[in-house]
Amino acid sequence: MSIVYHQRTRTFHLYNSHVSYLMTVLENGHLGQLYCGKRIRDKEDFSYLLEFSERPMGSYVYENERRFSLEYLKQEYPVYGTTDYHHPAVEILQANGSRISEFHVVGYEITPGKPKLEGLPATYVELDEEAQTLTVTLRDELTGVEAELSYTIFEERSVIARSVRITNQGQEAVHLTRAMSLSLDLPDSRYEWLQLSGAWARERHVKTRRLETGIQAIDSLRGHSSHEHNPLVVLKRPEADEQQGEVLGFSFVYSGNFLMQAEVDCHDQTRVLAGIHPEGFDWKLEPGESFQTPEAVLVYSDRGLNGMSQTFHSLYRQRLARGYWRDRVRPILNNNWEATYFDFTEDRLVSIARKAKECGVELFVLDDGWFGARSSDRAGLGDWVANPERLENGITGLAERIEELGMKFGLWFEPEMVNKDSDLYRAHPDWILSTPGRRESHGRFQYVLDFSRKEVVDYIYESMAKILREAKVSYIKWDMNRSITECYSRGLPPDRQGEVFHRYILGVYDLYERLTEEFPQVLFESCASGGGRFDPGMLYYAPQGWASDDSDAVERLKIQYGTSLAYPISSIGSHVSVSPNHQVFRSTPLHTRANVAYFGTFGYELDLNKLSEEELREVRQQIQFMKRYRCLLQFGTFYRLLSPFERNETAWMVVSQNRRTAIVGWYRVLNSANGAYTRVRLQGLDPKLCYCNRLAGTKHYGDELMNLGLITTDVTAGQVPDGAKPCTDFESRIYVLEAKLGDPKLWESKKTERGVQA
Ligand code: DGJ
Repeated sequence: MSIVYHQRTRTFHLYNSHVSYLMTVLENGHLGQLYCGKRIRDKEDFSYLLEFSERPMGSYVYENERRFSLEYLKQEYPVYGTTDYHHPAVEILQANGSRISEFHVVGYEITPGKPKLEGLPATYVELDEEAQTLTVTLRDELTGVEAELSYTIFEERSVIARSVRITNQGQEAVHLTRAMSLSLDLPDSRYEWLQLSGAWARERHVKTRRLETGIQAIDSLRGHSSHEHNPLVVLKRPEADEQQGEVLGFSFVYSGNFLMQAEVDCHDQTRVLAGIHPEGFDWKLEPGESFQTPEAVLVYSDRGLNGMSQTFHSLYRQRLARGYWRDRVRPILNNNWEATYFDFTEDRLVSIARKAKECGVELFVLDDGWFGARSSDRAGLGDWVANPERLENGITGLAERIEELGMKFGLWFEPEMVNKDSDLYRAHPDWILSTPGRRESHGRFQYVLDFSRKEVVDYIYESMAKILREAKVSYIKWDMNRSITECYSRGLPPDRQGEVFHRYILGVYDLYERLTEEFPQVLFESCASGGGRFDPGMLYYAPQGWASDDSDAVERLKIQYGTSLAYPISSIGSHVSVSPNHQVFRSTPLHTRANVAYFGTFGYELDLNKLSEEELREVRQQIQFMKRYRCLLQFGTFYRLLSPFERNETAWMVVSQNRRTAIVGWYRVLNSANGAYTRVRLQGLDPKLCYCNRLAGTKHYGDELMNLGLITTDVTAGQVPDGAKPCTDFESRIYVLEAKLGDPKLWESKKTERGVQA
């Protein structure tokens, strides 16, 4: 890994064994972009890449020449209006009303490691040798505003992490009305654009389309990253697929309003922008003040989408997530939400927990409804004290009873919200976000606390910390169930109202930071009506997130497949729930519900007392299986094999680091009559090792499984293996492949039951 500056040509080259990123100082002093892609050899001069054009209708920087135009030259942090007509990376509103600036390179620094972004989530290093950071300082002479562009390259990762710090070094206040974290000009547009979009209960579906002339964008103006669009965009070459080809992944480490767009101009250049949404954003910078943008992470892969995802997974698992739980397998939990909703007593909870314990569950989680006057979603939010009518011994007493059963206890909070029917609102009606003189819109009868105000965050911190100090709470589910409307803070002056959305998120991060610092062993799971804030920003504080309120196994195939594009399996909250399912009313086999949930944190979202003895036996086997293989499932190398967005069958797999063990999940939505013979080609195995397929009782070399494929044919194709049950809709199988050293002929192989094998 290296960052080199070539003095004569004023060229920066960041490279490691995977990726190269080249920039140069243009002749007008702006920072130009030369190349971003597969590693190339370093050399001094790449100036032949600069494209000067004389075109009719062009606008040119220098008098008496028609060559140098920012419309055609690729740049790193462009502004609008001085010959460049694309959407800009930065915009500064000045005292005289002008929005034009001219950022010239005035210095640079190359440092080992990676500096922290104060108050913001970001990737990090543990040792300085893991990364190097280049900071290029740009200055707009007229206003004195400086922008420090930061680029970190990691040792063994195909990643460039970027952020920008903007400081007003001038004499007059200015307003920052746009400050993107990343701007990348690419020389062509031969890409497919991939995004993760959806809605409540069907988050992060993969949508792909050919990049076209004009602007394509995803965004959120809801105050949270949203169910609708996840802050991830992928540009892939049309011929690239899951296993091969060139892919660029852009991920934004932020949980609030964002914009990610690609602008393809009429000369087929592409500009990618990622950052805080400029709509409504207006940050006042007094002389001496700075603004730090969140981080954007760029991943380059020449091993297709799986290569990109594996890079994101290991970076986000090891160097974005933090703390005690980062490298630990996740406890198998039972959450009471779909089991009871608001209808519970302490004794009923304990009876659910007792049964869960009998089956091997390790953590019991009490969801919404335990506090204040909360008997429905109309009251109680904000009053974080146990309701004695439901919990006669409070949270402390309930937690003790759960611990006595030999389990850990977890608790739900929705810290950012308040109901008008609450003591908190009655005491502080001005603590909600609302615009003076305007109607106050609600969502689920609740209002958003003004987390841009320190006293509000302090109050919530104290009320949550009090419970955590008194009771044995090992896990917190942090929910957020509405988007922000009438965004206005009574704590800020009129000319700072454009800061509220971002300050709100900073308040959320501050509360997370304080709680995780005081209670480092508590496992946090983020949640926002399911997956409404499932983003890299949250992962920095909460190493796992509830992926969706849709717990139906079939729906989850698409949700978890899409989520896996950027997010590690250890972060994907996934549970077995009842059948018929509560969201789509579909009935699916118990083994399929588990077979999907294994590829995540795993747990149960039901009252196990309501299952039959036979089902309970199956649950016990599932839990045993998960305990045995969760380290591999959550931390192994994950490959997507067959996409639910393209066919009736889905398949994915994980492989251990030494490639001796692999687990394949295979799922078929609808059954067919007289169906085809089917195989799935596996990935990531050792071609020379012989693997025992415990489900089929067969042995195959890795090269067979990867090239001929794993046979998934069943009775629908007329093949009736001994003892096979007839197939149903929503069928699934888990194949455990274990390589043993020595002569394969001497192994004992044993067929096991369909579905779960211990
Ligand atoms: C939304 C969450 O996604 C659910 O799991 C549950 O916690 C409810 N909120 C409780 O109100």
